[in-house]
Amino acid sequence: MPKPPLRLQTTTLWEYPSQHYEEGKHGSKDYRGATPSWVVWNLLQRYTRPKDLVVDPMAGSGTTLDVARELGRRALGYDVAPVRDDVFRADARKLPLEDEKAAFVFLDPPYGDNLRYSGRPDCIGELAAEGPDYFPAMDAVFAEVERILRPGRHLAVYCCDVWKRKAFVPIGARLSELLSRRFEPVDHVAVVRHNRTLKQGNYHKAAEETNFFLRGFNHLLIFRKPERAAETAGSKRKPTRRSRKDETARGPRTTGRRRPKRKGS
Ligand SMILES: C[S@@+](CC[C@H](N)C(=O)[O-])C[C@H]1O[C@@H](n2cnc3c(N)ncnc32)[C@H](O)[C@@H]1O
Repeated sequence: MPKPPLRLQTTTLWEYPSQHYEEGKHGSKDYRGATPSWVVWNLLQRYTRPKDLVVDPMAGSGTTLDVARELGRRALGYDVAPVRDDVFRADARKLPLEDEKAAFVFLDPPYGDNLRYSGRPDCIGELAAEGPDYFPAMDAVFAEVERILRPGRHLAVYCCDVWKRKAFVPIGARLSELLSRRFEPVDHVAVVRHNRTLKQGNYHKAAEETNFFLRGFNHLLIFRKPERAAETAGSKRKPTRRSRKDETARGPRTTGRRRPKRKGS
């Protein structure tokens, strides 16, 4: 069946019937835990412009890099266990990148130890979400993102809660709380999951019998690094006009479409 055309998602409930758009040449659908390419496409349309530097500190099969380059953005990817030549080996808690170089950061981290990645000791996917080390490790990643991101620019974290070993860990809520200590909240989107598990009857039967819920959505947590105090306080710009500098800071649209007028909120 042909895939529907991509369009900008306009509510906080995002859905697309396939993991990948078009021929699916973004990242690898065979990589366990690959990010849906259409999610990255939507984010880059909203929060970046051509030639912006997009950074993915946990790049995996490189979905972010492929979508970014296709859209004319520059892209850098890191991973503790790179699976392609254009992803550099680095721990997301210590990136070989200068301060404030990134115009947008995308992260799809391990959700605790729900999937096995490389098995390396520095892989955050070795840390159980219900244990003591996972959230401090993710906070160290967020500190590094804070360092490399330009003020006023956005980051997005794609993640899923886990229900494992008879315990629910609200990863989305807990990561959101950690992020809000460093960044300004921009929005919180629920992305409908269409994975194979959800199509299997035995999983639904187990969910009924054991009284738990299968994960129906992923969180997409969108934040912005605050402007430097001097830039906002010392500005002599007229408050009514949106300057070019503001466009950069707020993350412009690249589609050329006009934003509809607000009728109150
Ligand atoms: C959910 S996958 C990312 C999927 C990727 N966005 C894609 O589309 O293929 C999480 C990735 O985080 C990587 N990772 C885990 N711990 C890391 C760390 N400390 N630093 C950098 N990458 C790490 C894993 O190797 C894995 O590739």
